Amino acid sequence: MQEKQNARRGFLKAAAGMTVAAVAAPALLASQNSKNGSFYGYEDKVIGSLSKLKSGADMDFSYPDADSPCKAVMVDGKIKAYSLLCTHKGCPIMYNASKKAFRCPCHFSEFDAELDGQMIIGQATENIPEILVKVKNDKVIAYGVNGLIYGRESNLKG
Ligand code: FES
Repeated sequence: MQEKQNARRGFLKAAAGMTVAAVAAPALLASQNSKNGSFYGYEDKVIGSLSKLKSGADMDFSYPDADSPCKAVMVDGKIKAYSLLCTHKGCPIMYNASKKAFRCPCHFSEFDAELDGQMIIGQATENIPEILVKVKNDKVIAYGVNGLIYGRESNLKG
């Protein structure tokens, strides 16, 4: 009798483990493709110098390819970098340093440069994609994109 109960417990434990795995697998796949998931496939790209940003200058660059214009700015001592394509209809947005915000001239959406590109107001329904950057010595290096760049099915072409 005891052997039967142990076998049954073992079966139930195995079944529970398979259920957890079946539920976790799609979640893992989703996170790898989501805005907040892993940032695989992107290459490091030097986009400018920290000293230039600290001097108050903005830095225009493209990432992850030449068709994706971006801008890096210094906001309260932190480097913040974003795609310059509005998430509404793709118009090029402009930075307003006094408001610490990006503004779209087409339909006047605004995005908070301090809060990871969060949409403040306007026609857009998505935040602007944030370009992830790191600093090595004086070099500012882009290494990923958090969010989908306007007009793309994937940020990485090819
Ligand atoms: S394209 Fe930017 S608000 Fe419409």
